Amino acid sequence: QILILDFGSQYTQLIARRVRELNVYCEIHPYNHIPAITPEVKGIILSGSPCSVRDQDAPMVHLAAFRHKLPVLGVCYGAQLLAHTSGGEVQPSAHREYGRAKLGTVDAESPLMQGIDQHSQVWMSHGDTITQIPDNFRIIASTESVRVAAFQVEGEQTYGIQFHPEVTHSLQGKHLLQNFVVDICGCSQDWTSASFVESTVAGLKEKLGDDKVVMALSGGVDSSVAAMLVHRAVGQNLFCIFVDNGLLRKDEYENVLESYKHLGLNIKGVDSKDQFYHALEGLTDPEAKRKAIGKTFIDVFDQESHLIEDVVWLGQGTIYPDVIESVSVKGPSATIKSHHNVGGLPDFMKLKVVEPLNTLFKDEVRAVGRTLGLPDNILKRHPFPGPGLAIRILGDITAEKVQILQEVDALFINGLKREGLYDQVWQAGAILLPVQSVGVMGDERTYERVVALRAVTSVDGMTADWAHLPYTFLADISNEIINKVKGVNRVVYDISSKPPATIEWE
Ligand code: XMP
Repeated sequence: QILILDFGSQYTQLIARRVRELNVYCEIHPYNHIPAITPEVKGIILSGSPCSVRDQDAPMVHLAAFRHKLPVLGVCYGAQLLAHTSGGEVQPSAHREYGRAKLGTVDAESPLMQGIDQHSQVWMSHGDTITQIPDNFRIIASTESVRVAAFQVEGEQTYGIQFHPEVTHSLQGKHLLQNFVVDICGCSQDWTSASFVESTVAGLKEKLGDDKVVMALSGGVDSSVAAMLVHRAVGQNLFCIFVDNGLLRKDEYENVLESYKHLGLNIKGVDSKDQFYHALEGLTDPEAKRKAIGKTFIDVFDQESHLIEDVVWLGQGTIYPDVIESVSVKGPSATIKSHHNVGGLPDFMKLKVVEPLNTLFKDEVRAVGRTLGLPDNILKRHPFPGPGLAIRILGDITAEKVQILQEVDALFINGLKREGLYDQVWQAGAILLPVQSVGVMGDERTYERVVALRAVTSVDGMTADWAHLPYTFLADISNEIINKVKGVNRVVYDISSKPPATIEWE
């Protein structure tokens, strides 16, 4: 495997994804919490950083722990760190280098540059530049304005690159990473979803033995795939609970329950609608609503899990980005909403936690799900927030509002599916606004509710663009909603991107 040391760059996760796309397993660790370097580790990548090596409190790492022993590739800040700590010089660039650049000459002798074309396009994003390299460093690529675009250290397998191979605008970036990971580090490319399933199930069997496991399922990809893995390991000793919080999409509870039964899971549906509505009564603040839902869920789940005798484990669908976020260089970020808590285990539940997906990215989770034979209606399902429709009804929640929104949402989502647009957007839904507007139906004036439709394209939900759905589709859906859903007389479409807006309205 490859170890990626994170110095806080926005691109660190992308490096990991590219390495894994090469079917090589890798892990990201913060530079200040390096794990023990086991024999499985075949090489180290040092990430970029928003910091400068010239800063007083610049993030540093004890390079001697692995340099000379293992191949090392420094990317951007990582490269500058290697140069700086070996006696080279790093200075602010005359102008900030950001965007596409072309490699001029490339040293064809260098193992890192094998197969990389002269004039290959790369992506630059840096404020500092290496102005002088130590004697034993050799330049292996330059661009017009960056003399030290890539270097190699004589007599060791240590390399540095100023550009970002992990960004797709570096057209041969993946090839360069392959040169490092496969040819220089000698990693074998055998990390696939099938091998992941095999080793994970074997590991779970050993860890869980004959113990009982309880899991809450949401119908989403992560919890479903996690449950299937645990199910393969312990069979009917896995007890799944699916709670109807009254905030799900129309018919979702019945459909999802049916799918799970079909998959052979030992699943119990719990109708707790009234308990949730009661807890939400009169609440309008989004975070207060989230907290009330979270607390009610824990109450319900705790009650249900106590009905399972001698349960030892709590299974969770935590995925890698949640783990990285919770141990990141910057510490758990202040902007995290209350849903991103990893673990989330209240003390009184006293269960051990098992998280079979906590090393996988979302697309890898889907690939594993496909290997496990999960159906498309689960695998390709859009993300849906835990608090469900409660954060899409601005203001207080009532059963009546939920029902209106469910109808609108179902027409929108079914329309997207019918027109083949569902798989083209990352997430879609409807929002019930706390305003009424004047309309006219037949001879009468109406004063009814307004709904907003939201559909976005995104890769990971961190940034998103509003989906450019065809006008004809929007026109048809708007008509259909106003005609079919009593109480709604106006439909608007949200054309805000994230940032500065967010995907949800609350
Ligand atoms: P925002 O609105 O922050 O949403 O752009 C990003 C992604 O997170 C989902 N989201 C939530 N998921 N509980 C969840 O489980 C929540 O409270 C919550 N709030 C937002 C949102 O649907 C989108 O996929």
